[in-house]
Amino acid sequence: MNIESGQGPRNPRMSERTLVIIKPDCIQRHLAGEVIGRLEQKGLKLVGAKFIHVSEEPARQLYAVHRGKPFFEDLVKFISSAPVLVMVWEAEGVIDMVRKMMGATFGCDAEPGTIRGDLGCSKGYNLVHGSDSAETAAREINLFFQPSEIVDYKLTDEDWLYGKND
Ligand code: RTP
Ligand code: MG
Repeated sequence: MNIESGQGPRNPRMSERTLVIIKPDCIQRHLAGEVIGRLEQKGLKLVGAKFIHVSEEPARQLYAVHRGKPFFEDLVKFISSAPVLVMVWEAEGVIDMVRKMMGATFGCDAEPGTIRGDLGCSKGYNLVHGSDSAETAAREINLFFQPSEIVDYKLTDEDWLYGKND
């Protein structure tokens, strides 16, 4: 079987990871599959996932950069209001790719073709979260996942997905 586990050597082309959260509104609107499908169709690699109800403290830590802003308390309340799906996705350049796929912060402004632009029009709920830098991704992944909960395995179509014709 062509599946590796544990902390074995990893393909350097697959070295970047990001945290994606399917937020409470996305779960409640039955859109989790749609979002996951888009990430899968793009060719990104799922390496971790859990369905959880985020409690207040991790919610505050997740959004620590926004502490003091007028929307901070509402943000914490929203993300901890109902279950979410937290996931780790992996690919070279995955952080920027996911940010582009998510679109502008709220669906009312987001371009068609993006997750937020296609699936929502709210000015307060926005379906998904994606880390915005390598440092943020490392911090956010640590918040929700133990290293042993990230699954190291090989996608059988990796060469076709990430090939550069060289
Ligand atoms: P996220 O962190 O959730 O992936 O979204 P983002 O990068 O597009 O937006 P960010 O600026 O990091 O803001 C984090 C979350 O705060 C809420 N927000 N409300 N009322 C407002 O002006 C406002 N601005 C941001 C959103 O829920 C956003 O996802
Ligand atoms: Mg953000």
